[in-house]
Amino acid sequence: MPKLFEPLQIKSIQLKNRIVVSPMCEYSSVDGFSNDWHLVHLGSRAVGGAGLIITEATAVSPEGRITPDDLGLWKDEHIEGLKRIVSFIESQGSIAGVQLAHAGRKASHSSPWKGGKMLTVEQGGWPTVAADTTPFRPDDIPSVALDKAGIEKVKSDFKAAAVRALHAGFKVIEIHAAHGYLLHEFYSPLSNHRNDEYGGSFKNRIRLLTEVVDSIKEVWPETMLLFVRISASDWTEGGWTVEDSIELAKVLQQKNVDLIDCSSGGNVPHAKIAVGPGYQVQFAEAIKKEVGILTGAVGIITRPEQAEEIISSGKADVVIMAREFLRNPYFPLHAAKALGAEVQWPVQYERAKL
Ligand SMILES: Cc1cc2nc3c(=O)[nH]c(=O)nc-3n(C[C@H](O)[C@H](O)[C@H](O)COP(=O)(O)O)c2cc1C
Repeated sequence: MPKLFEPLQIKSIQLKNRIVVSPMCEYSSVDGFSNDWHLVHLGSRAVGGAGLIITEATAVSPEGRITPDDLGLWKDEHIEGLKRIVSFIESQGSIAGVQLAHAGRKASHSSPWKGGKMLTVEQGGWPTVAADTTPFRPDDIPSVALDKAGIEKVKSDFKAAAVRALHAGFKVIEIHAAHGYLLHEFYSPLSNHRNDEYGGSFKNRIRLLTEVVDSIKEVWPETMLLFVRISASDWTEGGWTVEDSIELAKVLQQKNVDLIDCSSGGNVPHAKIAVGPGYQVQFAEAIKKEVGILTGAVGIITRPEQAEEIISSGKADVVIMAREFLRNPYFPLHAAKALGAEVQWPVQYERAKL
């Protein structure tokens, strides 16, 4: 049996294989609500056989949205639509996860196909909040630096969203602490120039993330899974490094975080990133080796043999794939054939089994 298709048991939850659908913003919501698009988008990947499907960045508050079109979990009314999606995903033998997110200084933009520009209040945007007032791009509108009350609100928003995620039936929460969004902005020295207990030292910069983990843990049962997506490197002189990520992963492991999803970049526009097939696998490998925590590898993983090599060589515990899944929702079914694994197809599709 190829390792890619060996189940992964984490606590009481079993993923039927090591293939995860990476969070992908669909910018298709009105007022944070999921709709038929989300059901079909996420549902097709469940039909396609992925072990775990993680929703797009799901905002914990309206001001935490990247765009006005983001998915959200900031009010109870959002639960029902997501419940239906979770239920469908589970009917296909997959596990459903939700990525809880706050976009920080990268909030209040238009969706990519509407220009992808920062929006003023007059254009339908809102004032953004961040670790400090430094904008992501020089001509972006500066953010408001979060004060104590603002930080408490962020923590309680994540906590309240976690309760709603539980009601919707999700078994995995992934905290989005990557790509230059709020939690990454706090832990990276490039975007945090605070001089209170949330800025300065490594311990202070990771404080908001660890407090968000603690807040979620107050309401998220130990039987359920908690993942954290990090940017393992800022790819920039003077920025966050893989060594920092290893130290952070040790702290998160102590807090019973189950898996680190190892992405990178996104916090400064001028980062020099050596993009290529599997370019971030090194981060998953280093963190797994040094810390002994489960890791996920993400970034230009597109081929069955490549995915199998990452898992069978022990570089990561799961492969997390985005764009290949947009091209091919049935990637796991094709990969099983290519690698000689016997997997169950949806009964409705059995006549087409490869
Ligand atoms: C359309 C699209 C939307 C994305 N939205 C998110 C998101 O909501 N949250 C996130 O953490 N990453 C997001 N990403 C990044 C992906 O999850 C993934 O990390 C990245 O695309 C690299 O993986 P890939 O080479 O398999 O596409 C997005 C990527 C794409 C292509």
